[in-house]
Amino acid sequence: MRGGNHADASVYQCRRTWLDSWSKTLRQPYVAGFEAAGEIVATGDEVTGLQLGAPVIGVGDGAFAEYMVLPAAAAMPVPPGWTEQQALGLVVNWPTALAMLKPLGGITAGQTVLIHAAAGATGQAAVTIAKHYDATVIATASPGKHKAVRALGPDHVLDSRGGDIAAEVLRLTGGVGVDVVLEATPGATFEASLAATKRVTGRVVVHGVASGDASITTWDLVYKHQVHIIGFNAGALTRAAPQIFGDVMRELSALIAAGVLAPGRPTGYDLADGPTAVADLEARAATGKLALLP
Ligand SMILES: NC(=O)c1ccc[n+]([C@@H]2O[C@H](COP(=O)([O-])OP(=O)(O)OC[C@H]3O[C@@H](n4cnc5c(N)ncnc54)[C@H](OP(=O)(O)O)[C@@H]3O)[C@@H](O)[C@H]2O)c1
Repeated sequence: MRGGNHADASVYQCRRTWLDSWSKTLRQPYVAGFEAAGEIVATGDEVTGLQLGAPVIGVGDGAFAEYMVLPAAAAMPVPPGWTEQQALGLVVNWPTALAMLKPLGGITAGQTVLIHAAAGATGQAAVTIAKHYDATVIATASPGKHKAVRALGPDHVLDSRGGDIAAEVLRLTGGVGVDVVLEATPGATFEASLAATKRVTGRVVVHGVASGDASITTWDLVYKHQVHIIGFNAGALTRAAPQIFGDVMRELSALIAAGVLAPGRPTGYDLADGPTAVADLEARAATGKLALLP
């Protein structure tokens, strides 16, 4: 790679790469996967401060492979004492969860947050962070994953596959709704999320599209759902608001140091079983982070 800016001029390769759940974004030619952890096997001419063999985790394109090229600025060292696999999620799911909850969602102690897909990698991070900051957490997940979600300490866990989520949330909040919703599956839950959000001050942060598209009209916003709707994309955050992203990463480092953010335990698949991993995601059979192991 070449170029005048730091990201273009500074590249390295990771030897091991891992699966994350952003694989549904399609570019041509398409090599799936965004988040990878591994050791540096080569660096660009202008790279400084990165040692060959150093364990790093970063975000780039084409993580479902044995080697991956990343901008040096898009990576961070694997925390001391952690394995590469345990670090997965540090640069995708955790910053996504923290950014949605705090700088975008504005959650504060005592506020209530509705977290959809709470058993997923991002959802688990969000439940953990929200509880750490003393929010009341209402989580949704498939019934088979409730045990895993409950272990994170949410106040309530609802069935994401049945029941009236909006009615349940309104019942749990005395009819006023939640302060923040993290909306991962709007095709299935957007209408319920809007109905379960506090009028005037409530925020709905939309970050996933796994269950299809959803829409809202201007009439809805004026006469039916007087809420704040916030679109979130981690890549856009790093490019358009690097200061906020930097603040998020610094806060994550502090959470690691404080032991709030513990080493992850992703479910591993052999690289050759990548299609199985993606099929499990699509079938909603997966819990937590998945890892492809080359
Ligand atoms: N915008 C961003 O920058 C950003 C960053 C990270 C992640 N994301 C997105 O956020 C979402 C959650 O991320 P994640 O890493 O936590 O994903 P994940 O681990 O794959 O969790 C996804 C969960 O969504 C639920 N779900 C509901 N309807 C679904 C459907 N039709 N197809 C598949 N899953 C469905 C399932 O939970 P239940 O079966 O328990 O309901 C599933 O376990 C994903 O859509 C991901 O693409 C976006």
